[in-house]
Amino acid sequence: MRLVRSVADLRALLKPLWNEGKRIGFVPTMGYLHEGHAALVRQSASRCDVTVVSIFVNPTQFAPNEDFAKYPRDLERDQALCLEAGADVLFLPEVAEMYPTGFQTHVEPGRLAEPLCGAFRPGHFRGVATVVAKLLAMVQPDLAFFGQKDFQQTVVVRRMVRDLNLPVDVVVIPTIREEDGLAMSSRNSYLSDDERERARCLSQGLFAAEEAFRHGERDPEQITTLARQAMAGADRLQYLELVDAQTLEPIQGPLDRTAALCVAAYVGATRLIDNVVLAPTVGEAGLNVSLSPTHGD
Ligand code: PAJ
Repeated sequence: MRLVRSVADLRALLKPLWNEGKRIGFVPTMGYLHEGHAALVRQSASRCDVTVVSIFVNPTQFAPNEDFAKYPRDLERDQALCLEAGADVLFLPEVAEMYPTGFQTHVEPGRLAEPLCGAFRPGHFRGVATVVAKLLAMVQPDLAFFGQKDFQQTVVVRRMVRDLNLPVDVVVIPTIREEDGLAMSSRNSYLSDDERERARCLSQGLFAAEEAFRHGERDPEQITTLARQAMAGADRLQYLELVDAQTLEPIQGPLDRTAALCVAAYVGATRLIDNVVLAPTVGEAGLNVSLSPTHGD
């Protein structure tokens, strides 16, 4: 596995591979990697000739009051995980090269960036879209891999790729969870033992809703209430919303299309997000949109 820190070195390394028509897979990350990231890298390694992983804690997607400065970092461990998962290139750009003096061009996502996390993290998805567009331009991958864990991010990125005609296929991988259901996240490392114990209520709430959905519940209010009741262990729910999986608009009336139940909550001072996708069967909705393989019955 090669470590590369500058865009020039990255290009020099990738140029022959582009020319030879090698299939390049890309996994953008902010580091402090876990099994969720590893799943993306493994998926890329299994489907592509060359896998590039980037680690860049992107300042433009953090608000001034957020955790940019204390975002966890452990390059040595990340390196070992990338190597083990099958990465070929680890790209570690510097803030000064990503955002040099005079930088002033951003990618501004539209309505998809407004609800859910966008409502509570103004500018967040502008930062995400901008850095992902830059990284895609640097790596020029055939496939780029993202986790369903950050559901709204996948929707915003897919839309950007379409709107800007970026020549890349976006692949979304199901959320990888701890044994008790907690979605893996670099931010889980902030949790105390007590908080970690209570954090499992988020996935438990989502699973309870999913279970009711599987048994035929189609009332958004009922589905959401069920989830909320199970989430009492969180200190504060920032949002819990059932939205159309494509438009991210709230589901009104009986659930008849693929939806995502999305939550953001504070456990102690740590903000956690999670979601499940609820997909009606083909016969029911007359379409075959499934974003997660766990909802096939
Ligand atoms: P980061 O939070 O490091 O996540 C990198 C990728 O790993 C994202 O696509 C995220 O959805 C995925 N991921 C995180 N936890 C996961 C889990 N438990 N299961 C499956 N996939 C998971 O998301 C970002 O970084 C940044 O916003 C980035 C896209 C790199 C732009 O800065």
